[in-house]
Amino acid sequence: MYKIPASTLFVGKNLHFLPECASTNTYLMDLSRRQPQPEGTLVITPNQTAGRGQRTTSWVSEPGQNLTFSLALKPRFLQAQQQFLLSQAVAVALYDCLQSLIHGLIRVKWPNDILLNGKKVCGILIENQLAGSQLETSVVGIGLNVNQQHFPIPTATSLAAEAGQEFDLQRVLNVLCTHLEARYLQLKKMAFEAVVNDYLRVLHWRNEAHFFIAKGQHIAGTILGVDEAGRLMVETSGRTEVFDLKEITYLA
Ligand code: BTN
Repeated sequence: MYKIPASTLFVGKNLHFLPECASTNTYLMDLSRRQPQPEGTLVITPNQTAGRGQRTTSWVSEPGQNLTFSLALKPRFLQAQQQFLLSQAVAVALYDCLQSLIHGLIRVKWPNDILLNGKKVCGILIENQLAGSQLETSVVGIGLNVNQQHFPIPTATSLAAEAGQEFDLQRVLNVLCTHLEARYLQLKKMAFEAVVNDYLRVLHWRNEAHFFIAKGQHIAGTILGVDEAGRLMVETSGRTEVFDLKEITYLA
């Protein structure tokens, strides 16, 4: 069971707790289709049995150990081509939240994986519905590894694994909801530049020389930032190239 966060205006005020569910994103999208939900509606479960990740991957989370939830937003003030701003605002909110809870190096790996000490601690899956050229509703799905100690892959971690102490899930949820709301309201008042600058400041590998596989080729390059469409901008061989998610892989 979770309590409604006390420190927010609308995020989490309509809270659906499900003891178990396949995917909170799918549940919230189905629910909203049947009956429109107020902005800020949150669906949370301690046991997500068929969690979905980006690019048709799955998201696996040990029951009762982590936060797996989805948040309904109505960012009608954004054009469809501005949708990456929402992704940036959510990623920066995660950064703000972790920064206030833990010591460690927190970075956003493009487009919106959250790394803690170089390992993935949180995944974000945003599913948008458009009305013409505007965003209509967004379901923001967040999987934040909090108390899980063992992972099937060495590139994943949790707050507890890094801090050496357990965290209270309700407290982490409250802090996260507060930051999600603050960053969303920043977007809503059109402070886009502040959100983008904060995202760039914490972008993993930005302004560092690294190796990548880009469009099938091994390249050396330096991440400069992202363009408005959310594509990664990389300087390579003296020129700037832009890449979609499918077109570039980071090498160690
Ligand atoms: C990723 O691939 O990194 C994104 C993972 C997103 C997982 C969260 S958990 C809550 C919500 N419900 C889902 O089915 N997926 C998201």
